[in-house]
Amino acid sequence: MSALEQTSRRGPEDLRLVTGRPVPAPGRGEVLIRVAAAGVNFADISMSYGTFGNGPTPPYLAGLEAVGEVVALGEAVSGPQLGALVIGVGSGAFAEYMVMRAAAAVAVPAGWAAEEALGLVVSYPTALAALKHLGRVRPGETVLIHAAAGATGQAAVKLAKHYGAKIIAAASPAKHDAVRALGADHVLDSRSAELAAEVQKLTGGFGADLVLESAGGATFSVSLAAARRVTGRVVVYGLAGGEAQVTNWQLVYEHPVQLIGLNLGALIQATPQLFGEVMGELFALVGAGVLGPARPTVYALTDGARALESLEKRETAGKLALLCGRPDLR
Ligand SMILES: NC(=O)c1ccc[n+]([C@@H]2O[C@H](COP(=O)([O-])OP(=O)(O)OC[C@H]3O[C@@H](n4cnc5c(N)ncnc54)[C@H](OP(=O)(O)O)[C@@H]3O)[C@@H](O)[C@H]2O)c1
Repeated sequence: MSALEQTSRRGPEDLRLVTGRPVPAPGRGEVLIRVAAAGVNFADISMSYGTFGNGPTPPYLAGLEAVGEVVALGEAVSGPQLGALVIGVGSGAFAEYMVMRAAAAVAVPAGWAAEEALGLVVSYPTALAALKHLGRVRPGETVLIHAAAGATGQAAVKLAKHYGAKIIAAASPAKHDAVRALGADHVLDSRSAELAAEVQKLTGGFGADLVLESAGGATFSVSLAAARRVTGRVVVYGLAGGEAQVTNWQLVYEHPVQLIGLNLGALIQATPQLFGEVMGELFALVGAGVLGPARPTVYALTDGARALESLEKRETAGKLALLCGRPDLR
């Protein structure tokens, strides 16, 4: 089969197309899917630089999120059935075939094309958990959402709107219209040096009740300064702009706010019941039409490095997909 292999820790420039690789065999409790489309996530960039926690060592087949048809079952698999269209995570998603845990394979909602389901197992649950299960958003509260035009950010804006929050979104200027169209109340330039002051001004000097922090780097301290003192929550789930520090002195004297870390993999492992609640609520929201099919920007598998580079350069909005085969499933 063909796949994309990451050959170094120099980033997407060393993501290469390889051919003639063996199709993986599903082990016990696993299924093999013929990949229709793979989701491109910021995590793929972190892995390509070796900065993803417990990430793979190069060379490795890249990609973590794929949707496709189940074509083989490992031992002790009672579902999904052969021929089912499922989405899930695993390793080596940027390929024609991929193995995933049967228990974690989620059925694509009826009537959705394969690529429209991308986001259901990564971006959407992250946004929902950050906003509701960990961020405890309440109607009427103000939420600051960084990277609001991104795949996770767009899901967060839609969800925050649904839960009755007032939304302050931050994004690069070229993406502001896309965020406004989703219902954000205020849209700020994510590259502005005045971001914290602008949030303070929009909130009458109180700060945001909840901050969804995925920008990292210099923006991390902006998030702390933009959060409401004492009751404000800052949910940290990404570091696109790099690592940043906060000291105990700052948390006591400068930014007395509630700092919450979120990692979807850890949430699945440490609190499977909570993850079940997140996914249950997610599918209820899909059923109610709050979250509809994704309309990803699609790239050919051979253009995978270009897709990752565009994501890294902050050029993209919404979900990105690599088409890996089976046009009839799209
Ligand atoms: N913890 C978890 O389990 C988990 C799960 C899913 C995603 N995430 C995190 O959530 C974030 C969003 O992921 P995504 O896949 O949906 O990507 P995305 O939001 O579609 O793309 C990343 C966006 O981050 C913004 N950004 C801000 N500072 C940046 C910088 N210095 N470099 C690059 N981008 C920067 C850019 O938006 P603007 O240019 O518009 O500001 C960029 O478009 C990432 O940080 C990712 O690691 C975490």
